Amino acid sequence: MSAETATATEILSTPWRINGLTIKNRYVLSPMAVLQPTEDGHPSDQTIAFLTTRARGGAGLLIIGGAVATERGNEEAPFRPLMRFDTDEFIPGLRRMVDAVHEYSVPIFAQMFPSFGAMGVPDKGRPTRAASPKPVRMAAPRLPYGFYIPGGRTNPTPDEITKEEISEVQEQTVAAVSRARAAGFDGVELGAHMRYLYSSFLSPRTNWRTDEYGGSAENRARILTDTVRAIRSEVGPDYPVGLRMSTNDHLPDGQGPEGFAEVAAVIEKEGLGYIALSDANYESMDDNVTSQSGAILDHGEPQAFRAAMPTVPLLLSSTYDPQQCADAIDAGFADGIMLARQMLADPEFPNKVLQGRQDEIVWCDHHNTCLRRLIFNVPVRCRKNPAMGRESVLAGAKEPISVKLQSRAQNLLIAATGSPFLMGIADKLVTAGQKASKN
Ligand SMILES: Cc1cc2nc3c(=O)[nH]c(=O)nc-3n(C[C@H](O)[C@H](O)[C@H](O)COP(=O)(O)O)c2cc1C
Repeated sequence: MSAETATATEILSTPWRINGLTIKNRYVLSPMAVLQPTEDGHPSDQTIAFLTTRARGGAGLLIIGGAVATERGNEEAPFRPLMRFDTDEFIPGLRRMVDAVHEYSVPIFAQMFPSFGAMGVPDKGRPTRAASPKPVRMAAPRLPYGFYIPGGRTNPTPDEITKEEISEVQEQTVAAVSRARAAGFDGVELGAHMRYLYSSFLSPRTNWRTDEYGGSAENRARILTDTVRAIRSEVGPDYPVGLRMSTNDHLPDGQGPEGFAEVAAVIEKEGLGYIALSDANYESMDDNVTSQSGAILDHGEPQAFRAAMPTVPLLLSSTYDPQQCADAIDAGFADGIMLARQMLADPEFPNKVLQGRQDEIVWCDHHNTCLRRLIFNVPVRCRKNPAMGRESVLAGAKEPISVKLQSRAQNLLIAATGSPFLMGIADKLVTAGQKASKN
């Protein structure tokens, strides 16, 4: 079907496949840590209501975010609570959630972080672990719109992860995937983006190891080729196993799309069902959560991945304009369209596009209140959609126990930290202080 003969709506309505699974349309709920599980890591009524609202809204596939594969990953989590997959006790609650989504005939995948790497919070007196001891530096000018950290932030330096620890993480991740499958998830996604553990291996900027995990593209891919191979031998060839990975460091000393695509092509040979493309990382966040639809296409990232891998399904991020999405699918640069903040603002976005009701869409304003709330560790809300985060209460359930009520002062703080004026002053003061202490 060509874009000249088919409308954008027709293209976005076409079914597609990931491994053995058929997906009814091109829209995918992008993983987000907004699910408000219980404090001890089980899905809550709110988790289920958030997801079923998006399944009803027409998404062809849901991918859950804020989920963790290992106990240590949970202990070092930068935001809480997370949904846990590290022991069998979590399977029944996860099954209840999966069954609720399946009532809408929509498949659901579990994204899993084995560890948050250099983005984790050190716990139990242990440093975090990454490919090499390179801390994450979030410089104030590289933060996204509406997001201010006066003076920026540098995370603690991680330790270089040992080979024994790599094997242990692999074993635990494979076990977590088996639990997801036992709970009825239709697929899993490994998170290798944003400077989390796996992503630190992919770019020479963050991986300067001299053992078999560093150096060539084959070596930098090894932690993931070994893990995907081990998962495949557990789940067989048809079960969807995807990878979310960074596609560009967007940093002067970083790796570009061709370099990331070269590493991805090595991993893909182990039988990846799809690659979810994620532009930039925590150090170049202005390019990660953009306000401009289709920036990833302008940066040539899907194109570089397609050139390196002719057939693996590719998922685009931060591309909201339906015509742009349809053109990218038609050109062969994308198969699925992931939507994150837009699905907070309007859970019915897919139905509205596919049913020609675009004038009814509630557009995300990209002020990133959602992200500010995430870093303050309070339940995520959306300025454009007051029902977001309260779906279960509105549907008649009691307020889930896990929801911490915010004080007025907390809400005021979150609003103030979104003010360019106030935070501009704070940034100047902190930066001047940093300079003075260096002299
Ligand atoms: C509140 C919030 C939480 C997020 N949590 C996750 C997560 O758990 N896993 C993940 O891979 N991405 C997460 N993301 C990133 C999104 O999946 C997405 O890549 C990003 O928001 C850019 O896409 P968008 O322009 O459609 O919002 C999160 C984003 C937001 C706004």
